[in-house]
Amino acid sequence: EKSGYPHFMLKEIHEQPQTILDTIRGRYSYESGEADLPDIGLTPKQFAEVGRIWIVACGTSWHAGLVGKYLLEEMVRTPVQVDIGSEFRYRDPLIEKNDLFITISQSGETADTLAAAREAKQKGARVVSIVNVVGSTLARESDGVLYTHCGPEIGVASTKAFTSQLAALYMLALHLGRVRGVLTVADGKSWLDRLVTLPALVKHVLGREAEILAIAKRYYKKPDFLFLGRGINYPIALEGALKLKEISYIHAEGYAAGEMKHGPIALIDKDMPVVVLAPRDRLYEKTVSNLMEVKARRAPVIAFVAEGERELGKIADAVFTIPDVHPLLSPILFTIPLQLLAYHIAVLRGEDVDQPRNLAKSVTVE
Ligand code: F6R
Repeated sequence: EKSGYPHFMLKEIHEQPQTILDTIRGRYSYESGEADLPDIGLTPKQFAEVGRIWIVACGTSWHAGLVGKYLLEEMVRTPVQVDIGSEFRYRDPLIEKNDLFITISQSGETADTLAAAREAKQKGARVVSIVNVVGSTLARESDGVLYTHCGPEIGVASTKAFTSQLAALYMLALHLGRVRGVLTVADGKSWLDRLVTLPALVKHVLGREAEILAIAKRYYKKPDFLFLGRGINYPIALEGALKLKEISYIHAEGYAAGEMKHGPIALIDKDMPVVVLAPRDRLYEKTVSNLMEVKARRAPVIAFVAEGERELGKIADAVFTIPDVHPLLSPILFTIPLQLLAYHIAVLRGEDVDQPRNLAKSVTVE
């Protein structure tokens, strides 16, 4: 059932062109530039009345939520508060009637996420959940649901579920942006044009797995890794670090690139590879100057950049390029090589990637 792959994790990584397509397929109307989400549970009028937006999730799903904040704030122009399930539920949050409360969960059974959703509902918020497992508790208890439809995820480390959560968040942001009148028909069409190209771009990146394997072979013995990203790719740095630590047991930390000089730089030396995500956006130059400081401390730099970039290629010890897409779409394309990097490093170290120690697929305890 691994379809010829040595591990479920690798099989699921390679399923992503299809699973991302499954998340968006049949869920939009191109003519009107709108997302068509029949199970979303709220009428356009109710969406129009939404006051504030909250996103609550745990682990990798929380990283998707952090990306969702950027997408929603950009496409819906409404502030979004993102919380970790276990933090939200214990602090008497200032949630109000008509707030939109979005939860994200692969399993739909995560205890802290579920408890947060119950609390939000009790306070009068409208709960919409992005869930993979059909009929799960969270799906049943929410006012509306957006299924990711990426099929069962067997590997304990979440891969395809994460990119489908991101794809679902684009659809939700498009829907809200349109019903709240922030995005025009033409804007909606442009977003759909970009979204439908994603599966082929993901496939293209997967086709270059050998380059990632070569990078993994150079660095798999290192004891610590730092992952840096900015803006919408800061959560992807967190996700890259989480993937690496959970299956390879290497100590890895994700940081906002601008925070490096506020502490973590003290750790940097020749034995700590620094993985950096640097799309061509308005923050690119700032990231380059962060990396000069890393290089000055002789740390190996592994740079993930957009096609056509020149500068980092000169500074970095290893470079992997992704297609040059709209900045808001870059998180999905950066995620793929980071998943492969974690996978190959873990395999080279002889770890059991599908069943990492101490981890459970579904965390139903607090
Ligand atoms: C990491 C991972 C976990 C889950 C977290 C939430 O690879 O799988 O961090 O993302 O336990 O699980 P769900 O999404 O089922 O609520």
